[in-house]
Amino acid sequence: MKVLVATEKPFAAEAVNEIKKIVDEAGYEFVLLEKYENNSQLIEAVADADALIIRSDNATKEVIDSANNLKIIVRAGAGYDNIDLEAATAKGVVAMNTPGQNSNAVAELALGMMIYSARGFFNGKSGTELKGKTLGIHAYGNVGRLVAGLAKGFGMEVSAFDPFVSADKIEADGVKVITSVEDLYSKNQYISLNIPATPETKKSITADLLSKMPEGATLVNTARKEVIDEDSLVTLFEKRQDFKYVSDIAPDNAGMLLEKFPGRVYFTPKKMGAQTEEANINAGIAAARQIVSFIENGDTTFKVNK
Ligand code: 3PG
Repeated sequence: MKVLVATEKPFAAEAVNEIKKIVDEAGYEFVLLEKYENNSQLIEAVADADALIIRSDNATKEVIDSANNLKIIVRAGAGYDNIDLEAATAKGVVAMNTPGQNSNAVAELALGMMIYSARGFFNGKSGTELKGKTLGIHAYGNVGRLVAGLAKGFGMEVSAFDPFVSADKIEADGVKVITSVEDLYSKNQYISLNIPATPETKKSITADLLSKMPEGATLVNTARKEVIDEDSLVTLFEKRQDFKYVSDIAPDNAGMLLEKFPGRVYFTPKKMGAQTEEANINAGIAAARQIVSFIENGDTTFKVNK
């Protein structure tokens, strides 16, 4: 049984050791492909693998179809928009994620980015504090909930919009429930985006929606670039001199935005949300255990395809 860990953006070394330990203990073979530069390397490496652990790596139809022994793909993380689920199902491959395992790291980064924005990207001038400011959480899943808790610790007024989570659950955390997305944006100076990239959410964050945000607005994106209607950002920035956008996932027009609107946009050079030792270890261990449990007992908990 061959388990391939294919990570273009590597896990921390400790996480790799932990994954290897679990794979070794199960009596399987461990193979590591890190920092690869193109999908053809992944296609070659996966050809004889029985199980695959990935992060944001692209498990395309081509990758899946070229893996003749493949039984399971585990995305060590939350978002599985990088897996072609239809191709996996068609080939009888189980696809899973490891929900919650890297959420704290992402939530901490969201707060860090908020502080970075509030302090003018550390430009030496007087900025503002988070205390007393309003924060709207767009989607109250694992990350959204943790962002809310941290923000409350900073003394922020936190509200959330999530039609898939019961109002009781949100209110139990001391977070105000907002029932329309327009209200979420018009009532909050900060918005933390925590929605997945799905056909429904892609390009759903438009200039029209963002322009509802109050004076001194900051949009914090630790979710996916695809959910933003990037073309309309330019119009928004031109209209709203006060608007700031900080994102862990650089948009395709990042260079132009940085040049045209200095001091108002910031993008991490590489997605950093889940890049902590703890998150890597938690997600990596979960992924390896899920593979062993599936191979040995047919356990399909966390399966995300049909
Ligand atoms: C996730 O969906 O879990 C996060 O976006 C983390 O992605 P990464 O593993 O590529 O850092």
